[in-house]
Amino acid sequence: MRTPIVAGNWKLNGTRASVRSLAQSILDGLSSVHADTQVVVCPSFVHLGDVAAVLDGTRVALGAQDAADQEQGAFTGEVAAAMLAEYGCRYAIVGHSERRHVYGESDAFSAAKFAAVRAAGLTPIYCVGETLEDRENGATHAVVERQLRAVEQHDGVAGLDEAVIAYEPVWAIGTGRTATPEQAQDVHRFIRETLRNGASVNILYGGSVKPDNAAALFAMPDIDGGLIGGASLQADDFLAICAATRSE
Ligand code: PGA
Repeated sequence: MRTPIVAGNWKLNGTRASVRSLAQSILDGLSSVHADTQVVVCPSFVHLGDVAAVLDGTRVALGAQDAADQEQGAFTGEVAAAMLAEYGCRYAIVGHSERRHVYGESDAFSAAKFAAVRAAGLTPIYCVGETLEDRENGATHAVVERQLRAVEQHDGVAGLDEAVIAYEPVWAIGTGRTATPEQAQDVHRFIRETLRNGASVNILYGGSVKPDNAAALFAMPDIDGGLIGGASLQADDFLAICAATRSE
């Protein structure tokens, strides 16, 4: 079932004290956010325990920013999805553009992570999106479809039924350059039509979402919420974005 979701991706930021305080400030301001909106925060791995302690028993869910493609074994530096579940994570971001483009992670590798996250009982927030070059070449739909099909090839078509998809045009992430609501809606509709059970899948928009552009994006018919980077590091901004979700 489609529900409004806003997830904060805290990336490589914070100290143990600052992430606890950010989580607490979000809880303190939650009364402005519609009860049906699922709020998620994704701190770094090492901050999960601190943030979990603050969020315990509240309506804000915990997510991780990534997960290993493997369950266990000799994989130095990796963190398995089951380890994240033990910390109370309900979500894990998979295939973020910084993993794909800064760290060179392929479609197939992202798909293997997706399968590992689902196998551990977590919901993947699976990121797809085109580069500026792809967009200028008219390849936006083809790139997004390729990223979705990679998951189907690895995990079967049913896998995506239970995921959250985040459409994040690479050229809009951290650049202050947001897709227009119409540009985002076009790709969201395409994703919904491409998925087997698209009518019931939550599709978030990400890329320079701020308090002053969130409502126009979230008002589009196929946009169910957002994946928020920079603006999720300020509680007031993040709460204003959460409050901008549709409340049907
Ligand atoms: P941004 O990041 O909101 O800072 O553009 C979004 C993301 O990377 O998920």
